[in-house]
Amino acid sequence: MSVATTRRTQVAIIGGGPAGLLLSHLLYLRGIDSIVVERRDPEYLYQRVRAGVLDSSVVDLLVATGLGERMLAEGMLQEQMEYRFEGQIRFINWREQVGRQTMVYGQQEVVRDVLDARLRDGGKIVFDAQATEIGGLDRDEPVVRFLHDGDLHEIHADFVAACDGFHGIGRPSIPTELRLEYERVYPFQWLGILAEARPGREWLVTGAHQRGYAMHSMRSPTISRNYLQVPLTDTVDDWTDERIWAELHIRLEDEGDLVAEGPILNRSMFTLRNFVCEPMQYGRLFLAGDAAHIVPPTGGRGLNQAIADVATLADAMASHFDRSDDHDLEDYSRICLERVWKAQLFTASQTNLLQVLRPGDAYARRIQV
Ligand code: APR
Repeated sequence: MSVATTRRTQVAIIGGGPAGLLLSHLLYLRGIDSIVVERRDPEYLYQRVRAGVLDSSVVDLLVATGLGERMLAEGMLQEQMEYRFEGQIRFINWREQVGRQTMVYGQQEVVRDVLDARLRDGGKIVFDAQATEIGGLDRDEPVVRFLHDGDLHEIHADFVAACDGFHGIGRPSIPTELRLEYERVYPFQWLGILAEARPGREWLVTGAHQRGYAMHSMRSPTISRNYLQVPLTDTVDDWTDERIWAELHIRLEDEGDLVAEGPILNRSMFTLRNFVCEPMQYGRLFLAGDAAHIVPPTGGRGLNQAIADVATLADAMASHFDRSDDHDLEDYSRICLERVWKAQLFTASQTNLLQVLRPGDAYARRIQV
């Protein structure tokens, strides 16, 4: 297939999720040109329901880079989390313990804010564009090839940032013999629902029940977000509204004031996984976000890690373009992986503590208690 168009930029970004879009915004603020290639259309991105809790450092970054206005007005600050476990209620208050608060603000809202800013600032984003190949990495002359409107296109760049999620083409572009992958897939899945129902608490409530894990959280003062641990064999059709609400009440030991019921706006099943790829770079290719690492959504780490990656990457690229200093780029993987493994440790231990890993195993249950 012949190449329909060839473009040149400083940074070719594959993927227009939170990582890719925010990276292009951070680069723009530093005067670095980029082109984002995204498989989906904007409407799909605006509606994709995913994570929803931001670390204080991420809140600070979004505010400092001009993306904080709506988040500060609509987001909900949280200072603690509640654990319900065999008739007892415990709190972890991170404002008291580490002096920080988190912000409840849906990932799709973050995506909307950054995408709107990119479109306003003339950001170059090609939607409905499927990247198929990253070439030239062995010659330090990277080129991203993608399909758009039935034609093949090319972007030549100084660097490629693969922000293309877990199933993208970035990670497999690192030769197998240079890549180590660490993975744990759990023997159950989660059913996640978004409901038009007032959250019962201003903080996240988690239930480590013998029947399985449950979580009651929120995306806004009128929208609740709830999760249930369910067997791998279940499908969404196995879970009627009545069954979902009944199970949430039981597992969260709800005495009637916690989980309000309401119309279910969105429901989906997803598997839980811990995953890390080492290294996160190969020549002029850099992986960021879900392309390089995955955590189960038990600890609100996924989105925050993705954002931390691109903040590090944007700084390192600025050192390269502004001062021809490549130390930070060479160190990118090491810097990110140190933080990434801490998040892995946290989410793996939360998962082991709170999920029923072996149903009916009384010993395992006592250890959790
Ligand atoms: N070509 C173009 N775009 C692609 C390709 C491809 N070959 N493969 C994937 N993409 C796009 C997807 O359509 C998606 O929009 O890359 C984007 C990846 O976005 P995410 O999966 O959201 O990954 P990331 O930006 O790293 O976000 C971090 O943290 O909270 C977690 O999983 C949650 O999405 C969240 C993530």
